Amino acid sequence: DTCILIGAPVEAGTGRRGADMGARAFRCARLAETLSDLGLAVRDAGALAIGPVAPRAHPNAAIRDLAEIAAWTELIEATAYAAAGQGMPIFLGGDHSLSAGSIAGINRRAIEDGRELFVLWLDAHPDFHTLESTESGNLHGVPMAYVTGRPGFEGFFPPLAAPVKPENVCMVGLRSVDPAERAALEAGRITVHDMRAIDETGIGRLVGAFLREVEARDGILHVSFDVDFLDPEIAPGVGTTVPGGATFREAHLVMEMLHDCGRVRSLDVVELNPFLDDRGRTALLLVDLIASLMGRRILDRPTRSWS
Ligand code: ARG
Ligand code: MN
Ligand code: MN
Ligand code: MN
Repeated sequence: DTCILIGAPVEAGTGRRGADMGARAFRCARLAETLSDLGLAVRDAGALAIGPVAPRAHPNAAIRDLAEIAAWTELIEATAYAAAGQGMPIFLGGDHSLSAGSIAGINRRAIEDGRELFVLWLDAHPDFHTLESTESGNLHGVPMAYVTGRPGFEGFFPPLAAPVKPENVCMVGLRSVDPAERAALEAGRITVHDMRAIDETGIGRLVGAFLREVEARDGILHVSFDVDFLDPEIAPGVGTTVPGGATFREAHLVMEMLHDCGRVRSLDVVELNPFLDDRGRTALLLVDLIASLMGRRILDRPTRSWS
């Protein structure tokens, strides 16, 4: 399948500048060449752009750039839907608000194809705020609430073809959860693994259990990778660092397992902020992680350890 690289230079969803340069940094770090070297076909679709938008107000006065993020969501949804019919879209952020569009579009395609979509969400944060509950007003904090059909987005964000089933979502790496998000996660059906769960159980067992579930239900998988999933010591190039994140080896193991499961059909890599990076090392690490997801391995393994 052709890898379709789609730059989505959206940064209006964050409180910091610089995430709009993320997609360019992936190119500097030779993402396309690295995928080609693995024997994959690669199409670089360039960068998306939205036109000017008229500002929109919301009763929650904290919210910033609502109209701009709604316009991005609509554009990225349509792009994801189209690209999913042609290959494996890889969305290069840009901030995590882009996943509102990518997951919505991927799910529209999955439903049309009669497939069950699952989402693996690798992030320090659940990004599960509604437009009412966000206190920061940064809309990168809301995409998972939107795509799972939580209320309050009607009339502000584009209507969903269908929500993603919360029981099909697995979040791994959480360590910064706001009170309103915690309450909603407790009341809902999303599988959540915080850093304590990773420490106690091991990331391979947690992710392996989810992948077995995807297989048992013959699902397809979208992976949404927020750079702040990683520990800031190895990945400083992100605006929302939280200490105590995934290690180099944990992250590569997850990527290798995802490759072996053979069900990943689309990917977001978001929140890379080259302005905050250290000589490109976060971008280079991400390219290596994407390579593991796409099949780079140390040795061939006769069997999958997690099956
Ligand atoms: N929960 C915080 C907020 O709503 C942080 C969100 C961070 N999200 C992200 N995609 N980095 O502002
Ligand atoms: Mn995020
Ligand atoms: Mn995050
Ligand atoms: Mn918040």
